[in-house]
Amino acid sequence: MLTEDQLSHIRKFASPSRESGYTRSIYSYPAKFLSHLPRELIKIFTQEGNQICDPFVGGGTTGLEAMLLNRQFIGYDINPFAILVSKVKTTYISREELHQGLNIILRTIESMNEPLHHYLDSTDKECLGELISTEINKLAFIIKTSDFSLKLQDFFSVALIHVTKLIGRRDFEERENWQHLSMISMFTRKCNKMIDAVSSLPHSVQFPPIFHLGSNHDMGVPEHSIDFILTSPPYLEVDVEYQQIQIQRRSLRKTKRSDFINKLLGTQPLPKKELCWTGQGGNFYWSNLERSLNGSYRILKPNRCLCLWTGFKKKEDQRKLIATIKKVHFNLLEVIAIPLSNNRAASSRSTHHKRNTRMLKQDSIYILKKEIKKS
Ligand SMILES: C[S@@+](CC[C@H](N)C(=O)[O-])C[C@H]1O[C@@H](n2cnc3c(N)ncnc32)[C@H](O)[C@@H]1O
Repeated sequence: MLTEDQLSHIRKFASPSRESGYTRSIYSYPAKFLSHLPRELIKIFTQEGNQICDPFVGGGTTGLEAMLLNRQFIGYDINPFAILVSKVKTTYISREELHQGLNIILRTIESMNEPLHHYLDSTDKECLGELISTEINKLAFIIKTSDFSLKLQDFFSVALIHVTKLIGRRDFEERENWQHLSMISMFTRKCNKMIDAVSSLPHSVQFPPIFHLGSNHDMGVPEHSIDFILTSPPYLEVDVEYQQIQIQRRSLRKTKRSDFINKLLGTQPLPKKELCWTGQGGNFYWSNLERSLNGSYRILKPNRCLCLWTGFKKKEDQRKLIATIKKVHFNLLEVIAIPLSNNRAASSRSTHHKRNTRMLKQDSIYILKKEIKKS
């Protein structure tokens, strides 16, 4: 059981506030944790050197906090882009190496004709305009075909995806003459911010975090080996674009989901049947969540805890989660509410809440324990 002190500590940290520093805010992965709470939970539930797992790793928040607190970490995600962001957030690169890379990109683009290879499709181009599309295409080509090390390529890919996402947002077209604005300066600014963040990470860490691309249904981790699991699965009935970029252009009456990320990374669309997800084309949420929880139960050490952070639109779905938790034999110790005002606990969850008032006005942290009863 948790002590009253521990519970009140968690409640205190459950109220939304933001923490930046290191690489925490270099990419706003959809529905990401704010880092202060994972950090506090890790301190409560583990000691230095312990093994932590996040089966729904997303943008790598848990991995980064585990690394900074000297814990071992292993994370899984089915989305290659999630693994990419997580690696970039936890890999130190020197300022000199990054500046050199950026200078090469900027020099090359000046004298370059548009490459034949296209990373944007014709509707993306129509929405973004000729100049911006050409620049994105050139930057993508340079990043992919340069002699950069893999970690530099990953770094610049995240910067380019971030900038493309910003340009795709509805508010970008409210800028005067937006179609004639060059995005190179936006890209340079983003890279400079990311250079400050990545070069501030510790040069060498005792336990470099491990991020695995793949489903968490069958994690290749030995049974009873993990000290603590901290995770947040996707939201039920919230169709989040984990791997696609939303391009919104009111003036063109177009909103489209661009496949730019897959084209840039050379990856495939996510396997819907494995994904814990509800959206167009299928509903595998509950069956897949049960499989993920079963996998988590298997790898957790006896008498250790799993903290799961999520929220629902309907009370009955919260009851369904509790039934699933019990079915998997976890003991539910506590449910701690995270109040969600407009200043939402998880950054990009806010947009869904503003749009969808049917969503419950709170998320919760479910604290589960793997209790093995002695026979
Ligand atoms: C809400 S996000 C996690 C956000 C994360 N807590 C953060 O701070 O960035 C949920 C993640 O679960 C991943 N996912 C969904 N189904 C999965 C599965 N079966 N196995 C592994 N990852 C899965 C999605 O790709 C997505 O990245």
